[in-house]
Amino acid sequence: MHFDTPAGSNPIDRLKVVGQPVNRIDGSLKTTGTATYAYEHRDIGGKPAYGFVLGAAIGKGWISSIDESRARAAPGVLAIVTARNAGKLGVGAFYVDRALAGPAVDHYGQAVAVVVAETFEQARAAASLLDVRYARGQGVFELAAVKDLAVTPRPAAFGPPPQSAIGDFEGAFAAAPVMLDETYTTPGQSHAMMEPHASIAVWRGDHLTVWCPIQQLNWGARDLGLILGISKENIRLLAPYIGGGFGGKGTVLADTVAAALAARAVGRPVKVALTRPLMFNSTTHRPATIQRIRIGAGRDGKITAIGHESWSGNLRGGRTEAATASTRWLYAGANRMTRLRLAVLDLAEGNAMRAPGEAPGMMTLEIAMDEMAEKLGIDPVEFRVLNDTQFAPEEPQRPFSKRQLVECLRIGAERFGWSRRQSKPGMVRDGRWLVGMGTAAAIRGAPIAKSAARVRLDHHGVITVETDMTDLGTGSYTIIAQTAAEMMGVALDQVVVRLGDSRLPESPGSGGQWGAASATSGVYAACVKLRETVAQKLGFVASEIDFADGHVQSGKRRVPLKEAAAQRELVAQDEMTYGDLSKQYAHQTFGAHFVELGVNAFTGEIRLRRMLAVCAAGRILNPKTARSQVIGAMVMGAGAALMEELVVDPRAGCFINHDMAGYEVPVHADIPQQDVIFLDEVDNTMSPMKAKGVGELGLCGVAAAIANAVYNATGARVRDYPITLDKFL
Ligand code: MOS
Repeated sequence: MHFDTPAGSNPIDRLKVVGQPVNRIDGSLKTTGTATYAYEHRDIGGKPAYGFVLGAAIGKGWISSIDESRARAAPGVLAIVTARNAGKLGVGAFYVDRALAGPAVDHYGQAVAVVVAETFEQARAAASLLDVRYARGQGVFELAAVKDLAVTPRPAAFGPPPQSAIGDFEGAFAAAPVMLDETYTTPGQSHAMMEPHASIAVWRGDHLTVWCPIQQLNWGARDLGLILGISKENIRLLAPYIGGGFGGKGTVLADTVAAALAARAVGRPVKVALTRPLMFNSTTHRPATIQRIRIGAGRDGKITAIGHESWSGNLRGGRTEAATASTRWLYAGANRMTRLRLAVLDLAEGNAMRAPGEAPGMMTLEIAMDEMAEKLGIDPVEFRVLNDTQFAPEEPQRPFSKRQLVECLRIGAERFGWSRRQSKPGMVRDGRWLVGMGTAAAIRGAPIAKSAARVRLDHHGVITVETDMTDLGTGSYTIIAQTAAEMMGVALDQVVVRLGDSRLPESPGSGGQWGAASATSGVYAACVKLRETVAQKLGFVASEIDFADGHVQSGKRRVPLKEAAAQRELVAQDEMTYGDLSKQYAHQTFGAHFVELGVNAFTGEIRLRRMLAVCAAGRILNPKTARSQVIGAMVMGAGAALMEELVVDPRAGCFINHDMAGYEVPVHADIPQQDVIFLDEVDNTMSPMKAKGVGELGLCGVAAAIANAVYNATGARVRDYPITLDKFL
């Protein structure tokens, strides 16, 4: 099915099941511990051996020798895989890091060896007996230490071109009566998802099966094929459940390659889980940025010039962190400039982390907007409203399909009690606490991609949906079941959903907040086909029938749906593809964040009090799972604002806080109260589902709203994240 004109009314619009806040259909599997995550599968075709990955102990240099003799003699050891015996390895198309070091070491923690033994403990013990000698090279590990940042960037994973220019930015900025020119920094961050990177690999002849938590199984099969030099058709990846990813499990990483190589070496299934320190130092992270923002405005508060430059670093061949992405879409202004610059660093790979580019970009742009509002003497909500635009600022002919930024700001301000905010900072005292409020806009792109699905109807009237879509705890199972139930007119418990198998019809997987809208649209397409098949089977005219309450009806004739499959199961498969609507319309999601917090006047301790997000993101397929996405993102934004920072040790060239004790993320006690409001929105230029995504929108702007609230509470403006108390005392 091809989508190239705005959707008319269709069965989804009934909203009997879609749009309802139903519980996750996989919820009880999660709460009872019976959902099987990658490392937990038992039916794997044999007794597994265990691989332990030894990471490089230097940040840059060479392996001069590895003495394996003591490790080989250790109890239970079956094999030791290193670059010397692994065969030629390629590089993936999305993550570009080399899976095995040797002879060169590209970064600290890069896998040097995989020790395979009968038990995990034996493998770990033997790995400690490997005697690896290094020749240390001169590495550059910190962005701030880079002298020449002007490397031409490799385009970002997602997002904007390296630069853009509209009108005369420099001239308009110089002429502006009110101007801001500030530099902000954001630190490296780690996805720190709950489930570690872990894989079980098994070979049958030249066919490889891997259980692994990968968000995009099609990328995973492609990249594992490229790395191992085998056809992706010979690879089957299985990921029925994934314990969080946030972009850190986009495709194949060291655990999967290590398991595949080790399983080939020992001729039986091999399980490999990365330790937390290896996850921090050898998988991917969100790169640190330095961002310069310049805004010029007239005394009326209208922006006349806006410029955003961002510098980030990555290993050679790695991508740019596209922190200028949102600045190209968010506010009006005739003279504009964005520029990305990339430095080569000898760290692990920087790559996509939830709202890549947009999240760190909004962390800074939305502080700059707060600063500018203060310079102008305009309320921060009003300043944003004043600079709203219904057309893409860099493409004045291209309207936003839907843009309810102003509505988000206004409704949020009203619900949050924004009118009680004192515009002068440091004015509100509650005992020992200085209390402040802050706001920020939210914006995040709304991509959608081709997605396929297969649906079956059996003689019990049960609908089975199959696609290689993944569920990271996001609710994919549930919204896919809701879609099929709505389309086929059956109750939700009549739908079975199978996901996370690369042999199933191809979806774009979970990422870029495209998963929900894309995967359900593929299911929609397959269901349209199944409805036609059912109609034909039962002798109805397809265009005239209604599917409801487990029946098919046309005029007075009403037949149980299951009768269509009385003799044999009916199967339909289709994919949803897209025309040019996303070129005609700018597809973005919008929101507004509001935060109230207290800062201890004596210690500088920051305590959140209330958070509110208002989101406008197309049709909300399930308000409960969507809310969970947004509140989770708000928690992540609180971490970004107040805690999270990958600290580089410039001597070793590693992230020194490489576990959950040293890398702080918020806990429940840090998040006392959250609210989410979804505005009514139906975007018929997206797909027949008329939905967008919310998983990344919820993160964009949160940290700035917190930073702005800290300023409002204290009068201390911090431009260097995270906002720890040492930075404003
Ligand atoms: Mo996302 S950072 O595309 O999982």
